[in-house]
Amino acid sequence: MADPLLSVAERLAPAFAAVAGTACDPVVRPSDRADAQANGALALAKSLGLQPREVAQKVLDAAGDLSDMLASTEIAGPGFINLVFTDSFIASQTLQALNTSTLGVHATPTPHTITIDYSSPNVAKEMHVGHLRSTVIGDALARVLDFVGYNVVRENHIGDWGTPFGMLIEHLIDLGEEAAAHELGMGDLNGFYKEARRKFEESEDFKTRARLRVVKLQGGDEETLNYWRTLVNESTRYFNKVYTQLGVLLTDDDLMGESAYNNLLAEVVERLNKAGVLEVNDGAEVVFADGFTNRDNEPLPLIIRKGDGGYNYATTDLACVIDHVERVGAKASYYVVGAPQAQHFQMIEAVSRKAGFLPDDCTLNHIQFGSVLGSDRKMFKSRSGDNVKLAELLDEAIERAAAAVAEKNPEMPASERADVARMVGIGAVKYSDLANDRVKDYIFDWDRMLAFEGNTAPYMQYAHARICSIFRRAGVERASVRSAQLQLNDPRERALAFRILRFDAAVWEMVDTMSPHKLCTYLFDVASDFTSFYEHCPVLKAESEEIRQSRLLLCDATARTISQGLALLGIEAPEQM
Ligand code: ARG
Repeated sequence: MADPLLSVAERLAPAFAAVAGTACDPVVRPSDRADAQANGALALAKSLGLQPREVAQKVLDAAGDLSDMLASTEIAGPGFINLVFTDSFIASQTLQALNTSTLGVHATPTPHTITIDYSSPNVAKEMHVGHLRSTVIGDALARVLDFVGYNVVRENHIGDWGTPFGMLIEHLIDLGEEAAAHELGMGDLNGFYKEARRKFEESEDFKTRARLRVVKLQGGDEETLNYWRTLVNESTRYFNKVYTQLGVLLTDDDLMGESAYNNLLAEVVERLNKAGVLEVNDGAEVVFADGFTNRDNEPLPLIIRKGDGGYNYATTDLACVIDHVERVGAKASYYVVGAPQAQHFQMIEAVSRKAGFLPDDCTLNHIQFGSVLGSDRKMFKSRSGDNVKLAELLDEAIERAAAAVAEKNPEMPASERADVARMVGIGAVKYSDLANDRVKDYIFDWDRMLAFEGNTAPYMQYAHARICSIFRRAGVERASVRSAQLQLNDPRERALAFRILRFDAAVWEMVDTMSPHKLCTYLFDVASDFTSFYEHCPVLKAESEEIRQSRLLLCDATARTISQGLALLGIEAPEQM
């Protein structure tokens, strides 16, 4: 536990408890006027019927000597306690944090299993930018949850089942398997899907064939299943190409498509029935959960099985809940899916609770996100008005990054530039997505995301590369400065060390709110604190060897924090730019 705010909260807790007569949160928060402030006296005063400043004083009296940790404690305003740490506490804590592989980030006390459903595109359909967001956000969350010690199970819930497969298979048969595989493998998923749809709509004959094909598929006809596998395999080959370009963790082992739950669907219906929640409504089997209504304010059902016997998207997700709880043993399930599916997941949760599929100690969490917009503030589309092809978008990112890097550092050899351009281009796309509050829409803007100034990937990567080059120029091995004494004589040194210590808090803020932008904001603060440190505190030309070593240690610590932070976001940090 590196975060000094946590340390001081722990230290003050017994004093608060003594005054309160029961456990009481000191409510330690960041402060503009001090290193931190404890706000707990305000709420406590209310319950004790005393003046907050008086309560704050009692707490300080009860706390006794804090001088090994705090240089000053001052009661301010209506009853906050302003806290300033001693330099030696900050220095020793920083050195301790830097000695750990997690840079001081504490592990979860409850390392249970968590599922995280992300990316989840649809077979024989182009991934759209919504899937890009899900992939990038989900991957960052999976990384950070793993980092703090949870047992993370990634799931790529691809849409690989259902009625459209009738028409898709018939279209595949028309084209010939080889030609169809080629088209899909090339990533022309949209062309394939649209053509199948067009035939379905225009030809009665094709429509009949498609319908019969669905029946065969559901009946487990071997030949039909083989065609279906071709569709799935060729599509996932294309998805994997995008995943490789993006550098995300997802592999074929994480595939948990809709088809994987097929065998559970009949059981879902049976169990809903047994639980006494299944009703017949308009010829369909449905469940009504409290609190959901349609536009006319009538109760809104979750449709489980349609009149024709077909199951729904929702039925599969109920099977998914059962699978998470009973097979995977997950205590929490996260679904990284766009905001338009909010009601779907609310209903899945409500019905799961009602039917007893989801025990009280398990959670279901929809991690929703807003849309990607073009510069015209409308849905982000290609120039032709089609969905943007992700593979092409990512190629363009790398090309643009190559140009930006060449301009910034014309001396870099071409071989190295290609690799750096990949890290910068992909990093820029990911960072610009992650740096925005995920629930909001954001505008896709090449120039902004590739800028070397501001809260961008290139800025963070450049700050990191610049530090690496300080060591290169000086011919100093980075690890060699890690045992130096840390001296915090200049306020900029102190501020930087304090910021680095708060990496623990920043990572946990991202975990607690499932919001990657919190970590981005923190990393931007680290880079800014480093910049003002570097402007005011000469490193290689420091006044003495001790100070030089101490400042090199701060440089190394900054670079480690930035590269670790970026790694948690799924972004690489080149050593040269
Ligand atoms: N395939 C769906 C889509 O493209 C997303 C699936 C999300 N996951 C889930 N368990 N429903 O909209």
